[in-house]
Amino acid sequence: MTRAVIRSTGRYLPPRILTNETLSEWMDTSDEWIQKRTGIQQRHWIPEEGDVGASDLGYEAAVVALQRAGWRADELDLILFATLSPDLFFPGSGCLLQRRLGLRETPALDIRQQCTGFLYGMTTADAYIRSGLARRILLVGAEVHSTGLDISTRGRDVAVIFGDGAAAVCIEGVSADDDVGVLASALHADGTYAESLMVEAPASRFNPRINENMLRQGRQYPVMDGRNIFKLAVHRLPEVTAEVLQKAEVGLDQVDLFIPHQANLRINQAFEKTLNLPEGKVFHNIQRYGNTTAASIPLALDEAWEQGRIGPGGTVVFLGLGAGVTWGAVIHRFPDA
Ligand code: ACO
Repeated sequence: MTRAVIRSTGRYLPPRILTNETLSEWMDTSDEWIQKRTGIQQRHWIPEEGDVGASDLGYEAAVVALQRAGWRADELDLILFATLSPDLFFPGSGCLLQRRLGLRETPALDIRQQCTGFLYGMTTADAYIRSGLARRILLVGAEVHSTGLDISTRGRDVAVIFGDGAAAVCIEGVSADDDVGVLASALHADGTYAESLMVEAPASRFNPRINENMLRQGRQYPVMDGRNIFKLAVHRLPEVTAEVLQKAEVGLDQVDLFIPHQANLRINQAFEKTLNLPEGKVFHNIQRYGNTTAASIPLALDEAWEQGRIGPGGTVVFLGLGAGVTWGAVIHRFPDA
């Protein structure tokens, strides 16, 4: 049977670091509020002058992942690019990344599932590999949030949580009798909550897509019903984890590490408590990066691997919930060394 196995990971964070103290100079917030409600201490943002898109951050992460896999870019069968902050309205960031990698024909597909982009991307990669459509896939999650945030007190509930960054994984189809690679996935969406977390404009349903009045009203900035999203997350994440474990016929105690989307430390601590998991089973790094949306799970995987929290033969569950709302989980076992 052909299995979709993660061969390597890579990450890239822009060097500019924003502390909670810096944000407190721009808006009515405090280090204490941000840490208590979210766990976040700092985040990375692109340079203030801009001119760096999601595909540029994604490129840096992709180069590291490709080099660690020992793959040349022209050996890729498919590029999957997950982002909610594409460089342009169109074409997709995947095409821009493909161009930067020096490729001329390799297909590129953008995934617009926000915080669950990596989960939808892994599942898509698995389907391509199992069906024989592709053997070597690059999956990138990358975000530039900082250029789209309201950094006044009006936008403080959202502005303090988001960070810029990128991470990439190389996924390979391998013939294996053992249970390795993607063992199962569970994906869901509920559009009833579309307005609970969104950026309203520019949008094709407005003519023109944005105007000065809308800009003055701040309708180009993300809005979030944080309490509602929080409640949905603490309910759905344990539920979808149970679903994916059941599908894979893997017990909770057979999982070496849970890597949740890093949206809020309190959400992930609630997940840990609900499942009654022992200390160290859930990976957190939101403290240093904030919420990097599509990049957050692969970024956490890259660090977890580097720190030896997961390694050859290890079983990991990726999970998350975000705008849409969408939520899901993917269980993956690394082959033995
Ligand atoms: N600094 C200081 N005070 C603030 C800030 C801030 N940055 N932001 C909001 N407040 C105030 C509010 O105005 C409110 O004041 P009030 O009581 O006088 O009305 C008070 O703090 C409490 O606000 P809540 O919104 O109830 O705070 P909460 O504890 O819910 O924390 C947060 C807010 C951190 C946003 C939380 O709700 C959360 O993390 N929600 C889930 C986020 C999430 O998972 N998003 C999905 C992923 S993102 C994606 O998909 C793109």
